Amino acid sequence: MSVETLYRRVNDEYSTPAWLYDGLFKGWFDPCPLKSLTKNSVDGLSIEWKGDKIFVNPPYSNPLPWVEKAIEEAKKGKTVALLLKHDSSTAWWRMLHEAGAHFLPIMGRLCFNGKPAPFPSVLVVLYGKELASQ
Ligand SMILES: C[S@@+](CC[C@H](N)C(=O)[O-])C[C@H]1O[C@@H](n2cnc3c(N)ncnc32)[C@H](O)[C@@H]1O
Repeated sequence: MSVETLYRRVNDEYSTPAWLYDGLFKGWFDPCPLKSLTKNSVDGLSIEWKGDKIFVNPPYSNPLPWVEKAIEEAKKGKTVALLLKHDSSTAWWRMLHEAGAHFLPIMGRLCFNGKPAPFPSVLVVLYGKELASQ
C-alpha cells in the first residue's frame, strides 16, 4: 500500500471531536457514520437524508459528492452542516458559496483521535429555510 493510500484511508476515518459532535450536533442525522460503528453499512449518498437537521463529516479524500448531495437536500428545506477541510481553492467550495452556504472557519487545528489535523477545518452551514425559498 502506498503512503498516499494509507494517508487517505486514515483521513477518511477521522471521527468528529466529541465537543463538536455531541456539543452541537447530537441527534442530527449522520449519513456517513464511522465505518467501525456501522453493522450493515448503507450508502449515505443514495438515500434520502432523514429529518430536517443533518450533520456531515464526509470522507476527506472526496467530499465533492457529499457537498452535491448536501446542496440537493438543503434545497428541500433541510439544514445541513458539514465539517470540511478549509480549502477555498476547490470546486466544492465554490459550489457551496454559490448555493448560499455560511462558512464558519475553525481557529487552530481540530484534534482527530487525539492528534492535531494536518489541515485547517471549516464548518459550513446550508440553512434549508433560506435555500428552499430561492
Ligand atoms: C471522516 S469520517 C466521519 C465519521 C463520522 N460521521 C463522524 O463525524 O465522526 C467519514 C466516514 O464516512 C464513511 N463513508 C464513506 N463512504 C460512505 C458512504 N458511501 N456511505 C456512508 N458512509 C460512508 C467512512 O467509512 C468514514 O467512517
